[in-house]
Amino acid sequence: MISAVNQISLLKPDDWHLHLRDGKILKGVLSYSTDVFSRAIIMPNLDPPITTLSRAKGYKERIVQSIPKGVSFTPLMTAYLTDEMSSDVLEIGFKEGIFYGAKLYPVNVTTNSSYGVTDLNKIDNIFETMERIGMPLLIHGEVSDANVDVFDREAVFIERHLDPLLRRFPSLKVVLEHITTIDAIDFVENSKATLAATITPHHLHINRNAMFLGGLRSDFYCLPTAKRETHRIALRKAATSGKPCFFLGTDSAPHTRQFKESSCGCAGIFNAPFALESYLKVFEEEKALDRFEAFASKNGPNFYGLPINDEYITLVKKDIEVPQILDVGLEGDPSDFVKPFHSGEILEWSVVRD
Ligand code: DOR
Ligand code: ZN
Repeated sequence: MISAVNQISLLKPDDWHLHLRDGKILKGVLSYSTDVFSRAIIMPNLDPPITTLSRAKGYKERIVQSIPKGVSFTPLMTAYLTDEMSSDVLEIGFKEGIFYGAKLYPVNVTTNSSYGVTDLNKIDNIFETMERIGMPLLIHGEVSDANVDVFDREAVFIERHLDPLLRRFPSLKVVLEHITTIDAIDFVENSKATLAATITPHHLHINRNAMFLGGLRSDFYCLPTAKRETHRIALRKAATSGKPCFFLGTDSAPHTRQFKESSCGCAGIFNAPFALESYLKVFEEEKALDRFEAFASKNGPNFYGLPINDEYITLVKKDIEVPQILDVGLEGDPSDFVKPFHSGEILEWSVVRD
């Protein structure tokens, strides 16, 4: 990687955690990701969720049809685990290159998770199969127990569920997605190389105060929620450490204004439009620009056992203003628009597009 004060070139990155949705909005949000990422792990939490080979193939086809002409981008599909998921479907899907992983949403933990797993012990046959075939398990690591404080749900999940799971299946490959706490960082750093974690741009930039600044701000509401400042500082150190167990996963999760500006606003931050610029700001502030390529372009494929991209991307030091709001092609009024993360801010790095 060549890095100078005003310019940085790195192997083209991948996004290891992305929500693209379906239907009209898919086309409207996809180009922000295909613009800078070579591949992305596509989250399966549609309604109905991606629980079968044919649903995965159909969804992949709709994504591929929506990729702008002349752009190379590979969607890496995932299966949505339910209590009823068959291990044969996972095994066939993984071996045939339809699924690159399976996503575990504990039931009712986040957007479209009502079909999720009710009890991890009930699907040991699934974990056995995945461990045997080397299929990555991607985990939304929170408990949905209403008696557990919302800010403790990740730490409690690790203690109650993840630690016992890894003891039962010591060779299972696991990605703990969008980590938000020192507890998660410590757990991942002290585990075997079969456990890794993705880190989002928003959890590197905001702490939980952002949700309450002068009023209730659903734009900064996502799950897991941002935590205290001490956790944000630790996440910035972890992401910029260069350690192979941490890699890029935006968790970009678009919701239109009508679903954000509601008395029960949806969880999710749409960060795809300026994701690289956002991460790079953190790496520069942490004096770790030389470690950005490992985080963005190498650690992910190495963990998934996929080749590293051979194209390059360049960013230059040039101010860019993030729009307040983006029209994502729903042809409706502004209540159908989506607000990007950093909206209205000036970011200092820009992607060079030829
Ligand atoms: O903030 C989030 N939004 N967290 C999730 O786990 C799901 C996502 C979504 O799909 O909206
Ligand atoms: Zn997600």
